[in-house]
Amino acid sequence: MERTLIKKIFKDELVDQEALIKGWVRSIRKSKKFSFMVVNDGTCQGSLQIIIDADLENYEEASTLLIGSSVAIKGNLVPSGGRGQKVEMQGMAVEIIGKSDDSYPLQKKATSLEFLREQAHLRVRTNAFGAIFRIRHELAQATHKFFSDKGFYYLNSPIVSAVDGEGAGETFRVTTLDAKNPPLTDKGDVDFSKDYFGKDTSLCVTGQLEGECFASGLGAIYTFGPTFRAENSNTPRHLSEFWMIEPELAFADLDDVALLASEYIQYMIKHALETCGEELEFLVNRKGAEVEEGHLEMLKHVRDTPFIKITYTEAIDILNASGQKFQFPTVWGNELQTEHERYLTEKHYKAPVIVTDYPSDCKAFYMKQNEDGKTVRAMDVLVPGVGEIIGGSQREENYEKLVAKMDADNMDKDGYWWYLDLRKYGSVPHAGFGLGFERAIMYITGMSNIRDVIPFPRTVKNCDF
Ligand code: 4AD
Ligand code: MG
Repeated sequence: MERTLIKKIFKDELVDQEALIKGWVRSIRKSKKFSFMVVNDGTCQGSLQIIIDADLENYEEASTLLIGSSVAIKGNLVPSGGRGQKVEMQGMAVEIIGKSDDSYPLQKKATSLEFLREQAHLRVRTNAFGAIFRIRHELAQATHKFFSDKGFYYLNSPIVSAVDGEGAGETFRVTTLDAKNPPLTDKGDVDFSKDYFGKDTSLCVTGQLEGECFASGLGAIYTFGPTFRAENSNTPRHLSEFWMIEPELAFADLDDVALLASEYIQYMIKHALETCGEELEFLVNRKGAEVEEGHLEMLKHVRDTPFIKITYTEAIDILNASGQKFQFPTVWGNELQTEHERYLTEKHYKAPVIVTDYPSDCKAFYMKQNEDGKTVRAMDVLVPGVGEIIGGSQREENYEKLVAKMDADNMDKDGYWWYLDLRKYGSVPHAGFGLGFERAIMYITGMSNIRDVIPFPRTVKNCDF
C-alpha cells in the first residue's frame, strides 16, 4: 500500500477509506481497551490522531512506544468526533520502525526556544520549528518565482573570493596553509602565493560584484546563496553564515530598485499568507510567543500599502524633532543606530520605511555619489521589530569616480580590476540590493531571534551541529 501524507488527509478531508501513514509519535495516551496515538509526518501543522484497539496483535508494544518513535500505521480514516482535526484514524496495524527512549529531549511539555537551540538536530520535530521551516521553504520558492517571473536570471555567484566585496574587513579567510607553521615572505608576512589559490582568499560577504558583471550582460539577475561575515556582533539579528538574495538590474536607478524591494517583500508576505496560514496562526498564537498582537493584520496591511520613502536627512530631522532621548546622538553624518531605526519604524511610522541617500562615509565604496558631494544613492529598508532587512544602492558607474573613492578608502585596487573593467566597456546606470533571508523570515513569522529561523545557526563562538 502506498503511503498517504497527513497533509493530504486533512486537506482533502479523506474519510471512509484505508490509508497508510508514516511519521513520528508526538504523544500516546494508553488505556485498557484502546490507546490514542498522535503522529506527525512533517508535511503540515496538524498531527493525526490514531485510535489503537487493544485487539491489535502487538498492542502492548505499540501502546508503550515512547515519544519520538517512528511508525508506519495502516488504518481506516473516519470523521473525528473530537475538537481539532476533522479526520482521525482507526488503526489496524502498527509497524514500529524506530524506537525512541526516555532520554528523548523533546518531551510533551512545552520546551523553550533557548533549550531547543541546543537540540537543533531534533527541534524541527516540534510544532514551532516545523512551522518555521515550512514557511522558510515557501519564502524561498516565492523568491525564485518573483524574480523569474519578472525576467531576472538566477545567478550562482561564487562562495570563495579573492576580494572583500563590501570593503568592510569582515571576511573569513580560506586557506590550506599550516596555521602553526605557514610559509613566510622575506618581510616575515605569511606568503599567500604558496597558498592553495596562490593568493589570500576568503568566503564571500556578498555576491554583488559578480552580480553586477552578469547584470551587465544578461540585463537582470538575482543571487540566492550563503553569505559569510566575521562580524563580532552577538545580537538576535546577526549570523556569521546567512542567506542573501541580491537582485541586480542594468539600466536602472535607485527608485527602480526601491520599488522592486517593496514589491518583493509584499509578494513574500502574500505568498506566506496564502500557503502557510496554519503555520503563521500557530506561531503567533503559541504559548510564550513575543509576537505583537494583530501580527497577521499588520502583514496584510503591509502587503497592500505602498512603502514610505524618506531621505537620511529627513530621518535625522524626524529623530531630532521627536523629543525622544536616544543613547547615540542624532547628528547628521552619524550611522543610524538600531534605536533610531526602531523609532522610525515602530513609533513614528508604525510601518516599513525606505531610507535613502545616506552620507557616503556610512556606506560601501561602490555606491553612486550624489551631486552634493556628501551623500550616496543608498537605501536601507527598515521594518518594525527587526530593523534593516534590505541594504541596496545605485552603483557608481563612472570609472574615475569609483577609483577616486577606492583610493580615498585606502583599498588595494589590484584584485578589483575586473570590477573596474565594467566601467570601461559599455558602462550603464545600474542598481540592486541585498535582502537578508533570515531577517525577512523573522519579520514575517514574528520570531524575535535569528537563530530560530535558520536550520543550524552559526554565530560568534558557536558552530555546533
Ligand atoms: O547591507 P548589506 O551589508 O548589503 C550588501 O551586502 C550589499 N552587497 C547588497 C547589495 O546591494 N547587493 O547586507 C544586506 C542585508 C542586510 O540588510 C541584512 O538584512 C542582511 O543582509 N545581513 C545580515 N543578516 C544576518 N546576519 C548578518 N550578519 C547580516 N549582515 C547583513
Ligand atoms: Mg546594510
